[in-house]
Amino acid sequence: MNLGDYLEAKRRAVDAFLEKNISRGKKQKDCPEHLRESMGYSLMAGGKRLRPILSIASFEAAGGKSDSILPVAASLELVHTYSLIHDDLPSMDNDDFRRNKPTNHKVFGEAVAILAGDGLLADAFNIITHAEADPVRLLQVVRELSHAAGPEGMVGGQTADIVLEGKKAKKKDIVYIHTHKTGALIRGSVRIGAIMAGAPRRKLDSLTEYGEKTGLAFQIIDDILDITGTKEEMGKSTGADSAKGKNTYPSAFGLKKSEKIAGQLIDESLDALKGFDKKADPLREIAKYILLRRN
Ligand code: IPE
Ligand code: IPE
Ligand code: MG
Ligand code: MG
Ligand code: MG
Repeated sequence: MNLGDYLEAKRRAVDAFLEKNISRGKKQKDCPEHLRESMGYSLMAGGKRLRPILSIASFEAAGGKSDSILPVAASLELVHTYSLIHDDLPSMDNDDFRRNKPTNHKVFGEAVAILAGDGLLADAFNIITHAEADPVRLLQVVRELSHAAGPEGMVGGQTADIVLEGKKAKKKDIVYIHTHKTGALIRGSVRIGAIMAGAPRRKLDSLTEYGEKTGLAFQIIDDILDITGTKEEMGKSTGADSAKGKNTYPSAFGLKKSEKIAGQLIDESLDALKGFDKKADPLREIAKYILLRRN
C-alpha cells in the first residue's frame, strides 16, 4: 500500500465531512457569526487529521466497511482542535502560531477562543448522535471519547503539564503527562474505530496497545522535532517548549535516548498488530510514519 495516497484520501473524506457538516454549518445556523468563524478558522486550518485517520484505519483493520465511521472520526478532530485552541492560550502555552497561522486567540481574542473551544467540544458529542450506527456502539464511543478527553485523559495530562512547568518532574510524572495530554486521545481514536467495527475483546486489546505505544511515541517525536527544528511549521521557534521549562522526554533523557525510546515504542506497536491481516497495513504504515514525520 502507498501511505501517502491513503492519508490523502482519508484526509479529504474527513475534510469534506467537516466542511459540509460543521464548518459551513447546517448545524450552526443559530450561532453568532464571530463564533462560527472562530471555530471554522482553527478546524479548517490544515491539520494532518491523524486522529480521525487512525480511527478509520483501526475500524478497517477490525473489518469495518461503511462510511458510518465518518461522523465519529470527525468528532475526534473537533476535540483535538478544541484542545489545541485552549493549549495555545496565554494562560496555557501562550503560543502565537498554530498550523502555520496566527493562533485563534490572536485573531478572535481570548474570550472567543475559549468559547470556540467549548463549542467544538460540545459539537463533537452532538455529531456522534447523528451517526448512522448501532446506538449501543455510539454510547460506547461517547464513553471512550469523554474518558480520553476528560480529567483521566487529555485534560488530566494538560493539567500536569502546566502544574509541573519549570519544575523538575519525576520520571513517572513525565510518562503521565505524555500518555495523557496526547496519548489518551490517540489511544481513544484507535479504540473508537475498533468499537465501531464491533471488534472482539482480544482484537480491541491489541489495538489499544497499538494506540498507547504510538500515542506516546507521537508526543516524544513532537518534542524532538520542537528541539531539532525540523518541524515544517512557520512561526514556531525552535525549542519553544523546552525554553518554557516543559517536562519533555528530550529535556529529561536527551535527544538520542528519546529517539531510541520512540523507536522501541513503534516496534512494540507493530508487534501488537501481529495477529492482524493486511487490513491492518495502514495502521502499520502510520506507526512507521509517526517516527519519520517532519510536521
Ligand atoms: C499537535 O498535534 C499537538 C500534539 C498533540 C503534539 P498534531 O501534530 O496532530 O497537529 P495537527 O492536527 O496536525 O495540527
Ligand atoms: C499539546 O501538547 C497537547 C494538547 C493540545 C492536548 P503541546 O503543548 O506540546 O503541543 P504543541 O507543541 O503546542 O503543538
Ligand atoms: Mg501544551
Ligand atoms: Mg503547546
Ligand atoms: Mg509541543
